[in-house]
Amino acid sequence: MHGGFEHNFGVLFVCLGNICRSPMAEGAFRAAAVARNLACHVESAGTASFHLGCSPDPRAITAARAHGIDIAQQTARQIERDDFFRFSHIIAMDRANLEALRARAPRDGTARLAMLLDAVEGRRGEPIADPYYGAPAAFEATWNVINTGVNAWADRIVHEMTMRAG
Ligand code: 4NP
Repeated sequence: MHGGFEHNFGVLFVCLGNICRSPMAEGAFRAAAVARNLACHVESAGTASFHLGCSPDPRAITAARAHGIDIAQQTARQIERDDFFRFSHIIAMDRANLEALRARAPRDGTARLAMLLDAVEGRRGEPIADPYYGAPAAFEATWNVINTGVNAWADRIVHEMTMRAG
């Protein structure tokens, strides 16, 4: 049995470690959903296992906090088989994440796989660069591009829900 979410919409953001990009995407999407009165389950996960159970990177927490969003309580986990059934959308930060998801997706998985900037006009296929080895200032720039991506996805999901309801 795979548990569904309200309206059967759920978004899982995925990066490599689940400590930098996807936790920021999770927090930013949650705020974007609240702003749209959108009831949509959101989580994040990593394709790798090296940071299991860890809090987001302090630089990511700081970048989110600068925008009024608290991601400090999120903990890293790895993508698992059930995710491909539980979520309607699994959204990768870069091409390597997307390829790792495709390699792991069960044949009968129901989630749609995409990249974060695919929903942004003119930026389809562009990656969210990994800020992990960059300067702390890179996290502010990363936050901004992630925020652009999640707002585009929130708009798209509102539209999809409207189409389904109608
Ligand atoms: P993330 O960033 O995929 O955005 O969470 C990374 C975090 C950790 C590592 C690489 C990327 N790492 O190699 O430990």
